[in-house]
This record gives sequence, C-alpha cells and structure tokens, in this order.
Amino acid sequence: MLNELLRKNRSYRSFDTSVKIPEEVLLGFIDNARIASATMNLQPLKYRVVTEESEVSAVLSHTRWAAALDIKLPPEGHGPVAFIVVCHDTEITPFKPIFLKDVGICSEIIMLSAAEAGYGGCMIGSAGIEKIREILGLAPSLEPQLVLALGKPDEVVILEDAEGGNVKYYRDGKGVHHAPKRTLEDIIVK
Ligand SMILES: Cc1cc2nc3c(=O)[nH]c(=O)nc-3n(C[C@H](O)[C@H](O)[C@H](O)COP(=O)(O)O)c2cc1C
Repeated sequence: MLNELLRKNRSYRSFDTSVKIPEEVLLGFIDNARIASATMNLQPLKYRVVTEESEVSAVLSHTRWAAALDIKLPPEGHGPVAFIVVCHDTEITPFKPIFLKDVGICSEIIMLSAAEAGYGGCMIGSAGIEKIREILGLAPSLEPQLVLALGKPDEVVILEDAEGGNVKYYRDGKGVHHAPKRTLEDIIVK
C-alpha cells in the first residue's frame, strides 16, 4: 500500500555495506523518475550513478549527515553502497529555481523506488558540489542539484507525531532515530 511505503521511506544514515545494489536495479529507480510530470515537460535532469567503491567513498567524504545531531553519521564502516547524483543539464535548458521542483519530485520517486525494493537512503542537500563534480568528472553543463545516498539500512527509524510543534529529529539512548512530523490537524489551513 502507498501509505505503508511512504511510512517506510525514512531517511537512513547507517547501512549494511555487505549488501550492494545492482546497477540495473539503480537504473530501474531512475527509469521510474524518468516518466514523472515535469515543468513544461522540459526534463533537464540527468543522473550519475556511483557504485565504484573508491568513487562512493570519495563522494561520501564531501557529504554532511544529520548536522543537527552531535554524532558521526554514517558510522565508520556503515556508509552507503551507492549514490545517485541528480544533475541539471544546462544544455537542455538554463538552470532556473523552478526546476528544483522537478529535482524534488524525481528524487522522491527514486527514494520510494528504493524503499519498495527493500533498500533505503538519505537525500543529501548539504554536499560539496564542486568537489563531487570534480571527483565524478562531470561535464560543465551538468550541475549537481541533490545527492541521493543508497544502501541497505541497518538502523531503526521511528516516525512519530510532533509534540507541540517540535520537529527536531533525535536519537534515543538505544540509538533509535526518531523523525517527528506535524500532525494532520496542524497542517490543515482553516
Ligand atoms: C531536499 C532534502 C535535503 C536533505 N539534505 C540532508 C543532508 O544534507 N544531510 C542529512 O543528513 N539529511 C538530509 N535530509 C534528510 C532530512 O534531514 C530528513 O528528511 C528529515 O530529518 C526527516 O526525516 P525523514 O526523511 O525520515 O522523514 C534532506 C532531506 C531533503 C528532503
């Protein structure tokens, strides 16, 4: 069911590195994003798949995880096994902020596809874009917009109602991550 999948589709920041994601499976996630509605149907997004171990660890070193928490994530030896770097191709159309809506839609489709296939990950907006561009040898026309980290999660994330509007995510004493969401009542404008 869609609601079940949406609940399962949390941000995961610790992974079992012994479980790889086959390239064709990653391409399947991108194929799902490919058919999404798109601003003016221009479809300027291109995707760089990163699975080669040295590239994955190089990209990882230029990403910032759970800045609100005072712990190193992902923990040593529990990093993602793949990244998908969502890029805007300026040869198709010049970048404009309106296309960030497409980035969001397509990225969520990829994360949901991963969740459905038994994987998980985290969208990383806080990334050293220029460094990542250099590591991956991206053409100047490709502007990275969002980095999607993927793997087989080995942590528990609990979805809960935000109490008194407090949306700060946190880890409890058992290392369980909690993701508070505003209630339906709180978000309906009357
Ligand atoms: C566009 C976007 C960018 C994000 N960037 C980061 C990031 O740079 N680092 C990180 O650890 N989490 C990042 N996140 C994950 C959020 O912190 C996460 O969605 C939030 O804590 C709620 O948890 P949930 O995804 O399980 O609902 C990002 C999420 C989105 C949608």
